Amino acid sequence: MKIIAFNGSPRPGGNTEVLMREALKPAHEAGHDVTVYNLNTMTIKPCQDCGGCVTTGVCIQKDDMTGVFDAIRHADRIILASPIFFYSISAQSKAMVDRCQAFWCEKYLLKKTITAGPAGRKGLLLLVGGMKKDDGKHCAEATVKGFFRTCSVPEHETLFYGGVDAKGDILQHPTALTEAREAGLRLISLKTASDTDQV
Ligand SMILES: Cc1cc2nc3c(=O)[nH]c(=O)nc-3n(C[C@H](O)[C@H](O)[C@H](O)COP(=O)(O)O)c2cc1C
Repeated sequence: MKIIAFNGSPRPGGNTEVLMREALKPAHEAGHDVTVYNLNTMTIKPCQDCGGCVTTGVCIQKDDMTGVFDAIRHADRIILASPIFFYSISAQSKAMVDRCQAFWCEKYLLKKTITAGPAGRKGLLLLVGGMKKDDGKHCAEATVKGFFRTCSVPEHETLFYGGVDAKGDILQHPTALTEAREAGLRLISLKTASDTDQV
């Protein structure tokens, strides 16, 4: 299985990255093909709304997103991990998501969807925020739902941890790491949400 994970935090070894690495452990242990993208160190320019992808579904900006498009297209599982910044995902995450407008054109204008492999396609959204209330979770999740739908990922799970602010706070959380690992295990299972509903 090809698994790609986006770390949208600029803080190396921060709460987002710790959570994401924990969620990836089952995939590593099962020997899957895992690729992590640290968005903060990549060159991903914001979408220019130039219309260059409208008739082709291909973005005309050439930067590190070129490889990401290919990775998303061939991924069986996609993790997006982001801190909450001003009630939404980080700018690093949002720049990547916005560039997926090319997939939106491919899917909704050109009527082509990304074909899933035998393992299907599933997503996992991991969010951490300094505040205890979950307003940021709802805004971030709405954006990322759009991202997953656009990239033809029909189902995803979200984990959100609030009150996690200083670097390393996530390590003190009573359940976060265990839950991230369990979510990582569900992510690589071949069961779909509808299978689980029927159990
Ligand atoms: C620019 C900026 C904006 C932030 N905005 C919010 C916010 O709106 N809501 C919130 O809960 N936390 C907010 N935070 C706190 C971060 O989400 C929190 O510190 C998080 O643990 C950072 O994750 P990281 O260690 O992976 O970078 C903000 C932090 C920064 C730097």
